[in-house]
Amino acid sequence: LISILPKEKGWVRSVYNYQGFWTSTKFLQGVIACQQQFQARDSDIILVTSPKSGSTWLKSLLFALVNRVKHPIFVPNHPLLVENPHVLVPFLEHTLYVDGQVIDFSTNTSPRLLATHVPFASLPESVHDSKTKLIYLCRNPRDTFISMWHFANNLLLHHKDTNSIEEMFDLFCKGVSLYGPFWNHVLDYWKQSIQNPNKILFLMYEEIKKKPKIQLKRLAKFLECPFSIEEENSRVVDEILKMCSFENLRNLEVNTNGKFSTGEPYKVFFRRGEIGDWKNYFTVEMIDKLNHIIEEKFQGSGLKFLYV
Ligand code: A3P
Repeated sequence: LISILPKEKGWVRSVYNYQGFWTSTKFLQGVIACQQQFQARDSDIILVTSPKSGSTWLKSLLFALVNRVKHPIFVPNHPLLVENPHVLVPFLEHTLYVDGQVIDFSTNTSPRLLATHVPFASLPESVHDSKTKLIYLCRNPRDTFISMWHFANNLLLHHKDTNSIEEMFDLFCKGVSLYGPFWNHVLDYWKQSIQNPNKILFLMYEEIKKKPKIQLKRLAKFLECPFSIEEENSRVVDEILKMCSFENLRNLEVNTNGKFSTGEPYKVFFRRGEIGDWKNYFTVEMIDKLNHIIEEKFQGSGLKFLYV
């Protein structure tokens, strides 16, 4: 492990490089415990994201979709109306290893819905060796960066120890972002999704925003639980999308006032929920600099980000 930037301030203070990606001291033990101890099942479904790519949204869609028979949409006690999506679909490395205790997931009923930010090459061996399905959600780097900047500073506000947008952008361009470099994270999963389309589904935040029905049906088909004609006629797809919409989730009592046991409020996961907020922050120089990096890194990959 290499400790870097010890004199920096804000979230950067606790950043470490492990197996070629950046994580924080807070999550490092969880990442290692998860690599060493997590036993994947063939029936597991794992959502993977680079932080701030829309994990909360996809967790809710995934939960509603997979459990739609057991929990019909919008019944008053539907778990998504009373619980935060991160509790229903936990991050392996943030939840599996808590205060020195490894939580036993083995008794959870199948399919287990789980999530991770860990890059492809560092996933637990059992994920590679099993038929576990992976869903990767990607978001354009400009919005992802802006979302991360707000998130990091929001969580650190009470320490009066925040990073300016310039400081954090400079680090992002150097590849220093949680679970980054961002481009390595996205590219590895993109390539794997092409090589192994039955194991990895690659989704984009912007495509779900623009054509939610098509993308939700794509997800259902990939998970081998497609919508029936009856479900389509009874508007189940629309109902799931409505229940998981930004407006609905953000305004729920649980997400307005609820907190993790560690004290972080759930509301930090709901900010604007739009494509293109980067326009309110990015200078021409920032656009040029990031475009240059993205063009170089993604050249020949066939992957194109959507910025509007
Ligand atoms: P913004 O900060 O741009 O608003 P993650 O869940 O991976 O931490 O990502 C958080 C981002 O997803 C935030 O983006 C947040 O507002 C957005 N988000 C959360 N719930 C959403 C929803 N239901 N629909 C669309 N975007 C959502």
